[in-house]
Amino acid sequence: MLNGKRILLIVAGGIAAFKSLELIRRLRERGASVRCVITAAGAQFVTPLSLQALSEDRVYSDMFSLTDESEMGHIELSREADLLVVAPATANILARMAAGLADDLAATVVLATDKPVLAAPAMNVRMWTHAATVANVETLKKRGVTFVGPNDGAMACNEHGPGRMSEPEEIVAAIEGMLTAERPPFEKPPFEKPLTGKRAVVTSGPTREAIDPVRYISNHSSGKQGHAIASALARLGAEVTLVSGPVAIADPTGLRTVHVESADQMLAACLAAGTVDIAVCAAAVADWKAAHPAASKIKKKAGSEPPALELAPNPDILATLSNLGAKPGAKRPALVVGFAAETENLVANAIDKRKRKGCDWILANDVSAAAGTFGGEHNTVHLISAAGVEDWPTLAKGDVASRLADRIALHFSRPPKAEAAE
Ligand code: CTP
Repeated sequence: MLNGKRILLIVAGGIAAFKSLELIRRLRERGASVRCVITAAGAQFVTPLSLQALSEDRVYSDMFSLTDESEMGHIELSREADLLVVAPATANILARMAAGLADDLAATVVLATDKPVLAAPAMNVRMWTHAATVANVETLKKRGVTFVGPNDGAMACNEHGPGRMSEPEEIVAAIEGMLTAERPPFEKPPFEKPLTGKRAVVTSGPTREAIDPVRYISNHSSGKQGHAIASALARLGAEVTLVSGPVAIADPTGLRTVHVESADQMLAACLAAGTVDIAVCAAAVADWKAAHPAASKIKKKAGSEPPALELAPNPDILATLSNLGAKPGAKRPALVVGFAAETENLVANAIDKRKRKGCDWILANDVSAAAGTFGGEHNTVHLISAAGVEDWPTLAKGDVASRLADRIALHFSRPPKAEAAE
């Protein structure tokens, strides 16, 4: 029970704010009194009037209200509480709390308090897993803020993953754990990045095959998709080696980037990355290289024919990684994902390519000029696995990457039986 306990509830602006109404009801049932502070964004989701009706107390929102300040200043608000609860704790209020901002009444009260603070995060899964939010949560934990949730599940934004605010009863349990000696402190394991402990190698960008020291064979790949996939896997906790051909974009943070030029070098770098759980081959590897690259610049000879360029095949990196288990001592990644760049018969060719190369999944994308994939910001892909074809909507390359990383995390979270059925 929470008889006589005084809770200051800070309601920030998120769709989960509706659950805070139920939270007030449950806290009061247990004998606590609840006083609410609402942010301007919070008031877009629930009305101060509803909070007032349920808490049977006035609701505070304005830092510069003369009447509020004369009756109950921001210092008083926190002084008169036993516990501050921020629910929903949006990415924005967590960032403001971590930065020590005092730019509205809610943030000022949290900054001014010497009482324990409990935060119940609620936000989109990518906001929750973003490095900025992760760092803010770590900072706040170090400063003694207790967290409850978030939970995993379907979200209002049609996505799935961690970011749902804990249910009112879970928040009440956390409050009881903090305020009463009867219950041990409420401890839920902090949200684990689902790919923690997994190793991944990702190829990205074009390769460059020397004809002579100044000329080469290459293609238009920008590396945007492969780099975004490497970042998305790292964000979910994987230890990632990105093997990149020559690209104009920056190395992503939070992972190791190995720079290569040719397909031979790219394959060697992938193998040098050691045993990995996940391999994603997003590079546009040149299929052929010059059979006999010249050591010095090939000169024009007056009156003679242009030199013939003899080509030799490059190693197929995707096929090599997919068939690694065949050789003793080399362990095949548990999941090998390739791309199929096609200009016609997209899905049929990609299904065939998956079998031919021996990989587990293929992301098929249309690289005809009309689709604008090369160098563009968007990609329309189909995920082809043994289970069939999943059509994905047209997405920004970063979103394709996040969706793929989420699918990979889901794949590894499933029990072996479910995987076999996949
Ligand atoms: N790939 C690779 N090594 C190569 C060629 C391709 O690792 N030497 C990988 C790419 O990274 C991609 C997949 O294989 O994941 C398919 O690439 P794509 O260019 O579509 O296929 P190709 O093998 O070139 O087949 P095709 O010419 O029949 O389209």
